[in-house]
Amino acid sequence: MKVAVLYGGISSERPVSLSSGNAIISALMEAGHDVTPVDVGADIATTISALRQAAPDVVFNALHGPMGEDGAIQGVLEWLKLPYTHSGIRASAVAMDKGATRTLLAAAGLPIANGRVIAVSELFHADPLPAPYVIKPIAEGSSVGVEIIRPADNRRAEIAQTWRFGDEALVESFIPGRELTTAVLGDRSLAVTDILPADTTKFYDFDAKYSVGGSRHVIPAELPDAVTQRALDLALKAHRALDCKGASRTDFRYDDETDQLIILEVNTQPGMTPTSLLPEQAAYCGISYPELCDWLVRDALT
Ligand code: DAL
Ligand code: MG
Repeated sequence: MKVAVLYGGISSERPVSLSSGNAIISALMEAGHDVTPVDVGADIATTISALRQAAPDVVFNALHGPMGEDGAIQGVLEWLKLPYTHSGIRASAVAMDKGATRTLLAAAGLPIANGRVIAVSELFHADPLPAPYVIKPIAEGSSVGVEIIRPADNRRAEIAQTWRFGDEALVESFIPGRELTTAVLGDRSLAVTDILPADTTKFYDFDAKYSVGGSRHVIPAELPDAVTQRALDLALKAHRALDCKGASRTDFRYDDETDQLIILEVNTQPGMTPTSLLPEQAAYCGISYPELCDWLVRDALT
């Protein structure tokens, strides 16, 4: 098939997308597709002409973050009447907005952390939640901008001062314990991965995510069977609650002490870099990386 791969983009996750895209391009070629790479830059007209010229059967969306994962590029592809991988406009827009995601997940009866969307200026006045809590941009990925405020930590005014992610932020109670994740492919959850940052004083931040040796992934996570089942079930329910398509990945926190498992977010464009979690879970289920890419291309036509 003729496949155009959209990668790069203009979000802060551009380097991640370039890495995802390069791996996808090689894999699709290996799977026998006729591949046109399209590095998406600031001028959408250039991307549109590249797509018109390539006239692909399918567009592989390898973009991450705002304008690639939030419904914007999906809208352009709808206009161009080109089938594309992963979720459509609505699921992408909702999942990229952590406040909207919380509302939909809660409405579906799925567990989320205590928290709310605040005006960033509130941080100058008082703690919006009892510490420890987490401050996150509403619409970023790869932990960009995420801050954990511990008790007696005096950084909130400084964070508000230098905040570069809009007027609002999401604050959520910090859940101690582990970081788990489950990818969904089509209509099934793949596995549960336990993510252990190499530097245990830190969380699974940008560096831990993308530097070699930055984190250790344990698949399957060493958990009681019932907890594994709960994570698999919740990831599928979250995928459906948001009406995701193709692949998604739901991130969790799990507190062993209280047996609390909460959903942090749903990613509609899960990372596809060599150290990424969805490719690892697919491999664990016997699906090779080229087979995964090929599956997504075919799913785009359904
Ligand atoms: N936002 C990154 C790419 C992920 O979810 O894997
Ligand atoms: Mg994300």
